Amino acid sequence: MPVFPIVRMRRLRRNETIRRMVRETTLTVSDFIYGLFVVPGKGVRQEVSSLPGVFRMSVDLLVEECEEVYQLGVPAVLLFGIPESKDEMGSGAYASDGIIQRAVRAIKDRVPDLAVITDVCLCEYTSHGHCGLVKMTDRGFEVDNDATLELLARTAVSQAEAGADIVAPSDMMDGRVRAIRQALDQSGFSHIPIMSYAAKMASAFYGPFREAAESAPQFGDRTSYQMDFSNRRQAMREIALDIEEGADIVMVKPALAYLDLIAEARRRFDVPIAAYNVSGEYAMVKAAAKLGWLDEDRIVWEILTAIKRAGADLIITYFAKDVARKLSAPS
Ligand code: PBG
Repeated sequence: MPVFPIVRMRRLRRNETIRRMVRETTLTVSDFIYGLFVVPGKGVRQEVSSLPGVFRMSVDLLVEECEEVYQLGVPAVLLFGIPESKDEMGSGAYASDGIIQRAVRAIKDRVPDLAVITDVCLCEYTSHGHCGLVKMTDRGFEVDNDATLELLARTAVSQAEAGADIVAPSDMMDGRVRAIRQALDQSGFSHIPIMSYAAKMASAFYGPFREAAESAPQFGDRTSYQMDFSNRRQAMREIALDIEEGADIVMVKPALAYLDLIAEARRRFDVPIAAYNVSGEYAMVKAAAKLGWLDEDRIVWEILTAIKRAGADLIITYFAKDVARKLSAPS
C-alpha cells in the first residue's frame, strides 16, 4: 500500500452505469442537421465518390430521403442544389423554379414538419464557381462584394417563398446578413431565421463537397472572402458582426480543427452556435475506416461528442442518419 494519499478518480469510472450517471456531454438526435445534395432529373441517385454513403438525388428521391430522415428523428436538413445550367450571375440560385426552390416545395409538401434549411450562396450556380459576382481587373479578378448582396438577398427571399424554414448564407460577403434580413422582412418573412456561416474558413476540408456540388472555383481561390484559418480574434469579430446584423444562429466551419473557436464563441455569445462537420472530416473517417485503420462507429461518436462538448448546440453532419440510428437503438 502506498503511504501517500491517492485521489480516487476511478471510483466514478467503475462501470457503465456509474459512467453514464456522471457523463457531462450527451448527444441527442435533436442536435443534428443532415446535409443533402439535389440534382436535376428523375430517379437520380448517384453516390459521391469521395463521400461514400452520400448521394446526390433528384427531387423525387430526395423527398423520400427526407421522409426517412424525419422518421429517424433528425429535425432538419440543409440543402445544396446543383442546377441544370450555370451562368456568370448565378441566376439558378434565385430562380423561382430553381432546383432548390422546387426541392423545398416538394419536401414541405410531403414532410411539412421537417425543418428545411437552404444554403444561400452563388458558387454552385456561377459558371466561374465563385460565391459572388466576379469583376475582371488589370491585376486579375475580384469578387464584387456589394453587387453580390442583392443577389444573395433575392436568393434568400426566393427560398423563403418556396417554403424554407431557415436560410443559411455561406458566401462570406460583408454585410450579407443585414441585406438578407432586410429583404426577408420587406417581403413578409420577418419570421424566418438566419443561420449564418459566420466564421467560415478558406479550408481544404471542403474538397469532397466541391466534387458533390460541382462548385470548385474555375480560377483563383476563395481566400479573398473566406477567412484565413490562422485567425481567432478575427473569427470572433465575424461572429459579433453577424449577430449585430441579425443572425439568429451563428456557425463555425469546419468543426473538428476549430474546436477552440467553437469554445470561445460559446463563452462569448448567447445565440445558438452551429458547427459544420464538413465533407473532408467525413471523408477522412470513411477512408481510414475502409482501410481498417479506425473503428468508424466509435470515432464518429467521439468526434461529434467533442464538437458538442466544445459548445456547439447544433451539428451539421453527413453522419446524422447513422447517429440517429444508433441513438434509437436499444443500448
Ligand atoms: C459554399 C459552401 C461550401 C460548403 C458549404 N457551403 C463549400 C465552399 O465554401 O467551397 C462546404 C461544406 C462541406 O465541405 O461539407 N456554398
